[in-house]
Amino acid sequence: MYPAIVAIDGPAASGKSTVGYGLARALDFLFFDTGSLYRAVTWAVLDGGILLGNEPEIGQLAGEIWIEIQPPQPAPQDGRHATVLVDGQDVTWQIRAPEVDRAVSTVSAYAEVRSAMTDRQRQIARRYGSGQAERPGIVLVGRDIGTVVMPEAPLKLYIEATAAVRAQRRHQELCEQGKEVAYAQVLADIERRDRIDSERTHSPLRPAADAVRIDSSERTAAETLAAALAALRTVLAA
Ligand code: CDP
Ligand code: CDP
Repeated sequence: MYPAIVAIDGPAASGKSTVGYGLARALDFLFFDTGSLYRAVTWAVLDGGILLGNEPEIGQLAGEIWIEIQPPQPAPQDGRHATVLVDGQDVTWQIRAPEVDRAVSTVSAYAEVRSAMTDRQRQIARRYGSGQAERPGIVLVGRDIGTVVMPEAPLKLYIEATAAVRAQRRHQELCEQGKEVAYAQVLADIERRDRIDSERTHSPLRPAADAVRIDSSERTAAETLAAALAALRTVLAA
């Protein structure tokens, strides 16, 4: 399958990372969670005390900071899939903080932020997708991979689920991490982020015309992965 690229998009907590990670393991491909780039920029904006409405300064920052995503080994045994560095500082867990969750969609809607992050993603995707890197391919997970970043990917998946199910999943994850948040708050945050991501001018969240859509609402993670593997077999057989 060339280029050896799998593009996965979908809204928050639809299960895209879980299915993407499963596919990457099955294929020995690199797993690239592109949301961590947008989260890293957002962390840097908050850390620098820049106002969220200051688009010129945020755009400039996105072009200047150096974000590195390193494979998990060697890494602390804390459940991370990758280590995220901003100008050398390990921010792997900081970028998952609720403040970043709330601000990330605003920062991600800015054109200069998108073009800087899209360039990074394409460089990495082309290197791995052409079979010239240490893994034979790459799985990219995000919001605009199939539509904008890598429309040439032979396999495009769009993972969806109802907002209620997605909020339940996020709420459960937060409870397991010992964070007390009301379910209604998690649902409201998810719906707000979906709306900003879907309604923005630059590369809004939507399925590519040729994406295989998988609804994970009533599927377990294993069943969703099985549906994704079936879609892969169809592409390989064509
Ligand atoms: O894990 P979750 O689905 O909650 O979010 P994420 O994938 O980490 O993405 C965080 C945010 O980054 C999204 O809500 C989008 O605003 C933005 N994003 C984007 O605009 N384009 C991408 N390719 C990936 C993420
Ligand atoms: O990457 P995204 O934000 O779309 O979601 P995720 O982090 O892959 O998954 C969110 C949660 O839903 C995780 O706790 C998964 O175990 C769970 N889940 C899933 O991924 N797929 C299902 N079909 C059912 C649950």
